[in-house]
Amino acid sequence: MLDHVRGKRSAVTCALKCDNICSRPACNTSDNDYFRDVASSALSRRQMLGAGAAGALALAVGAASDVAGAQPAAAKSWGASKLTFTPIEPVHHAVDGLIVPEGYTWEPIVRWGDGLFPDSPSFDPENQSADSQAKQFGYNNDYLEIQEVPGSNGRRALLFANHEYTNENIMFPDSTDEATRRAVGMAAHGMTAVEVTRKNRNDAWSVDVEGARNRRFTMDTEYTFDGPLRGSQLLATDDDPEGTTVRGTINNCAGGLTPWGTMLSGEENFHGYFVSDGTSEADRRYGITAEPTARGWEIDEPRFDTRNPGHEHEKNKFGWIVEVDPWDPESTPVKHTSLGRFNHEGATVIIADDGRAVAYSGDDARFEYLYKFVSRDAYVEDDREHNKTLLSEGDLYVARFTGGSPAGEIDGSGEVPSDGAFDGGGTWLPLIVDGESQVSGFSVEEVLVHTRLAADAVGATKMDRPEDVEPNPVTGTVYMACTNNSNRAAAGYPGVDEPNPRAKNRDGHVVEITEQGDQTSTRFGWTLLLVCGDPAQGDATYFSGFPADQVSPISCPDNVAFDSVGNLWISTDGMPGMGYCDGLFKVQLEGRDRGLVEQFLSVPAGAETCGPVIRDTQRTAFVAVQHPGEDGSWQAPQSYFPDYVDSDGDGRFALPRPSVVQVLKGRPKRGTADRRQRQLIGDAHSGGSLRRGPALG
Ligand code: FEO
Ligand code: CA
Ligand code: CA
Ligand code: CA
Repeated sequence: MLDHVRGKRSAVTCALKCDNICSRPACNTSDNDYFRDVASSALSRRQMLGAGAAGALALAVGAASDVAGAQPAAAKSWGASKLTFTPIEPVHHAVDGLIVPEGYTWEPIVRWGDGLFPDSPSFDPENQSADSQAKQFGYNNDYLEIQEVPGSNGRRALLFANHEYTNENIMFPDSTDEATRRAVGMAAHGMTAVEVTRKNRNDAWSVDVEGARNRRFTMDTEYTFDGPLRGSQLLATDDDPEGTTVRGTINNCAGGLTPWGTMLSGEENFHGYFVSDGTSEADRRYGITAEPTARGWEIDEPRFDTRNPGHEHEKNKFGWIVEVDPWDPESTPVKHTSLGRFNHEGATVIIADDGRAVAYSGDDARFEYLYKFVSRDAYVEDDREHNKTLLSEGDLYVARFTGGSPAGEIDGSGEVPSDGAFDGGGTWLPLIVDGESQVSGFSVEEVLVHTRLAADAVGATKMDRPEDVEPNPVTGTVYMACTNNSNRAAAGYPGVDEPNPRAKNRDGHVVEITEQGDQTSTRFGWTLLLVCGDPAQGDATYFSGFPADQVSPISCPDNVAFDSVGNLWISTDGMPGMGYCDGLFKVQLEGRDRGLVEQFLSVPAGAETCGPVIRDTQRTAFVAVQHPGEDGSWQAPQSYFPDYVDSDGDGRFALPRPSVVQVLKGRPKRGTADRRQRQLIGDAHSGGSLRRGPALG
């Protein structure tokens, strides 16, 4: 099964998350090529940091101060994080446990199926309905944000999560009919905002179903379009002749908290929900085919089969960055057309020196691109309604990376070139500037709806699956996770280059990007911070010069986050490719320990680690645990996370449930899920070896 996906995790993920996109030829067959630019690489990383970074720091910290309930303003200098821990050992990929460092414990905060409102039905997995699911926490939580409610003295917070996709194979007993599966699965997509409370600051958070801001976003929720494509014929359908609205959001992956306190969420593998005749250049480029979809929503809603008259443009209504204001439960979420349409992993915003908002977004597919948006208007402190319009109009760019080392030294092995680094310069190639298309033969509307084709035309650099891209709020330096690319340098595919230097890249890498000048610059420098892998298994790896035998092995970086002093945290999706469960890792970026990777936690068998939120000043962290036990079935589960309980004593344990988890300092208390898990599989810190669990063999 691992062979099938070579470095990704499982066939189930391929079918349900990405519509088997990896087993088909990569969609990007454009012939735009790789350019070397020795001149730009002559600038050192230090020079690239320049004066602009300090300005970015001041603005980022200032910007955070007017966010409702933002985490404490980032420290202005490097220092020690208060979230100190002894790294855990990597955990065998079949172990069904959430393993945290010695002296820490964990609690599920909200699980798939948990009620969100006073009238929510209790979770009854054998009798699910779309109506009940619409009042419960959805499936496969990915992006996560937790913001304290102002004035609550740290006792109330607003939790926001999106729900990327569904694992029907483990959600339902065999007796559930197909129509019910489709309806429940649809209702389990979308997003959730829910208030959480705690009695004391050291307690775990728990859901308050009475919270005034509790809200589920489902496929029936109305979204509005803004930006240049609003009102375009390319968005018009029989359901929406004006081309201004759409029902629902799908396959939301990562996201970002804006400086004005809203949430951004990326519509990623939207192609897997649509049928078309599959013959147009755009359909081929976006991977939309004439095959029935995995979930079959087109059976119930004609709009998902875009061959149906009047629904031809429905597919154009997905693949956008969505902005949600969870602080206003009556607000209509917005799809921003100005950021382009592609498989958005997510988007994150930083305020540049001149006040404009800059958003970075990766297109997560093999050989796709990195994009940057620069707002037309400037951020205005304390004018939240104005700031909520910043992503409506602006310039759109795509990245071209150039390497400085001789091509012969980039041989696909992952060996570092003789100048000691995979590094170089780059250019932000304009797609739209001042409201005008910069792409020959493309109108503004065409650039925005067929952004991949426009980026092909200007010669962007094909990357190894750009996932999360985030500026470090302490330094302004940007970090991009390139998760893997099994087809790099395979027969018929593009070869290696300095920013993607490994053939059949199983383990991925992390790119560090330093804008030349401020964040709006069209030039940048870059270096690979990490070339991931397991040195102990003989992989060619690079940890910015830190000794490879002293780091935790890491593979398939996916989401990135930062603590208050600017350390990078990385969650992974694909570690089973090297034999381990996925996890959360801290990476030091400065000083003697730059490149030191330390594993903080490991998620249960089959799960991916998503949505890391690091609150080191409160000595706590959160992760969204996605698809635990994804390769199992109702009859033969492969995980009991997060409850690890046989509640009625019939020998059958509770089914796995994607959940948001909080990790806290302290030993597990009697009766907690953490304690039950340790009894089932052993304690990672007691010297014994971990077991898989009684019924898992
Ligand atoms: Fe949904 Fe790019 O991972
Ligand atoms: Ca180099
Ligand atoms: Ca991923
Ligand atoms: Ca992801």
